[in-house]
Amino acid sequence: MTPLSASYFQQLQQALANAGLAEPVLVIDRDRLDTNIAALKAMLPTGMGYRIVAKSLPCAELLEYVAAHTETHRLMSFNTNMVMQLLALMPEANQLLGKPIPVQALRRTLEGASAQLRSQLQNQVQWLIDTPTRLAEYAEFAESAGIQLQINLEIDVGLHRGGMEPGADLEASLNGIHQSDNLALAGLMGYEPHLTKLPNIAGWPKRAKQGAARQFQLALSQTAAIFGQDFARNMVRNMAGSPTFGLYSDTLLANEIAAGSALVKPSDFDLPILKEFLPASFIATPAIKVSKGVRLPGLEYANRALGKPQSGKTVFLHGGYWKAEPVYPGGLKNSSLFGRSSNQEMLVAPKNASIKVDDFVFLRPTQSEAVFLQFPIIAVFSGGHITDLWTPLPVTA
Ligand SMILES: Cc1ncc(COP(=O)(O)O)c(C=O)c1O
Repeated sequence: MTPLSASYFQQLQQALANAGLAEPVLVIDRDRLDTNIAALKAMLPTGMGYRIVAKSLPCAELLEYVAAHTETHRLMSFNTNMVMQLLALMPEANQLLGKPIPVQALRRTLEGASAQLRSQLQNQVQWLIDTPTRLAEYAEFAESAGIQLQINLEIDVGLHRGGMEPGADLEASLNGIHQSDNLALAGLMGYEPHLTKLPNIAGWPKRAKQGAARQFQLALSQTAAIFGQDFARNMVRNMAGSPTFGLYSDTLLANEIAAGSALVKPSDFDLPILKEFLPASFIATPAIKVSKGVRLPGLEYANRALGKPQSGKTVFLHGGYWKAEPVYPGGLKNSSLFGRSSNQEMLVAPKNASIKVDDFVFLRPTQSEAVFLQFPIIAVFSGGHITDLWTPLPVTA
């Protein structure tokens, strides 16, 4: 695999120019994506299911590509609009909500849905429930609408972003589902991305990992006590995200993991546990103005020495202010004095930088979920050429 050297970006520059592209695009390097898909598959233990975190790969063609190459029919969605989007895109897929949704949003979605969609929303979507109160709201709605909903319970295994810890609330919720004609338990979810981010001080990460496993195991035991061992073993036991799926070497605790970001590896995912994964997405945007020196607005009218231009070069980008860091040409920096701009971002380049007007500048996203949605086109780079133009999904919330 070509390393992220100057020659890599020069080749990409040429490929974009050959494809006639001259405005900001998001680039996905498909060869690097393939390496990442292979790395993910190699890291999953036998029998471990893989659920694609759709919000982190928000592009129809990309989701289809990943689903085909990982042979999964499981998606994680994050709002009702995304649920509908993904049902249209992959009508056979099963979805698990990655966050709890107000019951009113569910009501609104169901009321506007065709008979076919109503059936999919009942059978193929697992609605995440974090509290007994929300469960009661869902139960009341499902009863009044005469429908059955698949429920997945969010378990707090240490992230403390919500969900239930093992104990009385979980027990009441499990019993509530067990006794309901309108709710069916589909599984439990215990998300724990903090486990690989804690500082390695005096065994802290190890204890946190053991603690997360203990909490999830207790939640599973409570489930087994009410629904039976077989049910608890075979239901969805979802854990992990990109930073943590590599922690699972068997399916005793989790029987599926969810991940998305690792496959394109934005810089927030530069973690030792993802060392086999390659950065596979970049922003390419033209430098629309390049000038010698760094002139700050109005500075020539300031007192004496302050008014002198600083050394270096000034580059104005087509667009800017993305969640991303410049990576090529080398040495480009944001100017804290000039400030940020989404329209024409100013960067400062070293004095000897060879960048010219209309050359592409490359930035590496820090995250994928927001950044991918900011571009009209995703240019697919493979074998030294732009092979396809994909389109990001319409924004949902
Ligand atoms: C519930 C849940 N699971 C898994 C993930 C992992 O997503 P990614 O692999 O893109 O970090 C997320 C991300 O926010 C999440 O909220």
